[in-house]
Amino acid sequence: MIMMESGKLDLDRTKEGVKKYWDYGSKFYDTAPGLGGNEESQIWKKLLSSSIGPDLKNILDVGSGTGIIAMYLAELGYGVTAVDFSEGMMDIARKKALEKGAKIRFMEGDIENLSFEDETFDCVTARYVLWTLPHPEKALKEWVRVVKPGGRIVIIDGKWVTRGLLPRISAMNYHIYRFIKYGKNPFTYDYRKEVSVGLPNPHGVEKKQIMEYVSKAGLTDIVVTDLKIIRDIQRKKLPWYLKYANDHPIFMVRGTVAKKG
Ligand SMILES: C[S@@+](CC[C@H](N)C(=O)[O-])C[C@H]1O[C@@H](n2cnc3c(N)ncnc32)[C@H](O)[C@@H]1O
Repeated sequence: MIMMESGKLDLDRTKEGVKKYWDYGSKFYDTAPGLGGNEESQIWKKLLSSSIGPDLKNILDVGSGTGIIAMYLAELGYGVTAVDFSEGMMDIARKKALEKGAKIRFMEGDIENLSFEDETFDCVTARYVLWTLPHPEKALKEWVRVVKPGGRIVIIDGKWVTRGLLPRISAMNYHIYRFIKYGKNPFTYDYRKEVSVGLPNPHGVEKKQIMEYVSKAGLTDIVVTDLKIIRDIQRKKLPWYLKYANDHPIFMVRGTVAKKG
């Protein structure tokens, strides 16, 4: 798999479907109700700087999307390379970085098959990405490959579909909200069946599962942080009829890359 500054990637059917979904979803991503705002940004920056620390400088943000985490990292003073395969998401990210004068190197690529040399980066960040990969175990090994020994991998993810009547009703309200606000067919919100069958975690990834992936990838000194605080901040800004859909657990799992070989 080749990763280029721009160009055509050789993707299988599942990944083509995921890419297409995010190209379309890019129009709505940054305007999702409840997201963003100063209070949330400050917390993300604190979480990122404390999990990466001051010594690691050169960060690879995988599945960077509209660049939310890449921008926080750049604002914190880290050197950032952002990789994604959705042109729609990356166009928005590039535009935002240009507007804010953030120096981020954007690259189109498949994050399960990076073309960087071994040990190019000090750290990899991956927010809300692991769940949408067909081969998360392989991806993690790939991220470990491009990080120097002593460097870190920081994963933020969650289980997006939770059980219970209120979350279900509220999730349905989200679909109706999107339909009214954007004219978006609510039934196109989830991955199509032919895409989700190719993903081991199409409804999000449990903490336990992430722990399994990171330990199989050989990470050490694993630290898990519950990010309920982020959900609580977002929930304050949501209208009552969307609040209960916002109860799914999200967490940050950080690990250190051990000596290799
Ligand atoms: C839920 S979004 C997360 C975006 C961003 N990390 C954030 O925290 O807002 C998932 C992103 O992962 C990207 N992605 C999924 N699979 C990918 C792959 N195999 N290679 C590159 N990017 C991928 C999608 O294009 C999308 O932009």
